[in-house]
Amino acid sequence: MGIDKLKIKTGRKLGEGGERKVYEDKDNPERVIGAFEYQGETDDDKRYLANQARGRFYLSKILHLLYPDNIRDIHGSFSDPNATINKRVRAGVRGRKNEYFKDGKEKDAEIHGLRYKIYAETGANLDGFFNNFMYDQSGNLVYVDTPDSFTFDIDKLRTAVEKLEGDKKVKGLLYLERLIVVRGEEYKKNDDKK
Ligand SMILES: Nc1ncnc2c1ncn2[C@@H]1O[C@H](COP(=O)(O)OP(=O)(O)O)[C@@H](O)[C@H]1O
Ligand SMILES: [Mg+2]
Repeated sequence: MGIDKLKIKTGRKLGEGGERKVYEDKDNPERVIGAFEYQGETDDDKRYLANQARGRFYLSKILHLLYPDNIRDIHGSFSDPNATINKRVRAGVRGRKNEYFKDGKEKDAEIHGLRYKIYAETGANLDGFFNNFMYDQSGNLVYVDTPDSFTFDIDKLRTAVEKLEGDKKVKGLLYLERLIVVRGEEYKKNDDKK
């Protein structure tokens, strides 16, 4: 497993999606490590993964500042190995979204509501598959996948971050600046190839 390189002791496997496996961090039970299957092959892949990992980090940080109850914090984002470290989400009494969801389709409206709100306010697109959502112990609906690194609207994101106050606003604007640079580098590389 590529994540051996990170020298993190993995504990129990908490979940698995189409792209990665998620484990608890044995030395830090409030954190989880998500190991992507895809590690890239060519130098080009590796460069893309590096930009993607940086973008993922900054966008997650910004979305966490904006929606602390619904987007979990990110502590690390790597490209070699391709992996993320996030705050662990502990399922509350309503349980995991995927278990709860089976009871009735109407609950899906909550996912759509959250996705729509975040998309309208930031241009970021959450993957709406119900396995990507959990209810935490405070009853919040939490997204437990990662937002796509380069899908966002700069103007909307800036407007949203500018509404934050104090330290959060300062941090948010800093993350945004870096996010814009990373996306610029990624797009430029693609344009160069045309
Ligand atoms: N922070 C977290 N806390 C607890 N469980 C998580 C967390 N992140 C992911 N999981 C679990 O791992 C599963 C797969 O994670 P996900 O990021 O959706 O993988 P993929 O990118 O392959 O879709 C989730 O459905 C969830 O059950
Ligand atoms: Mg997923």
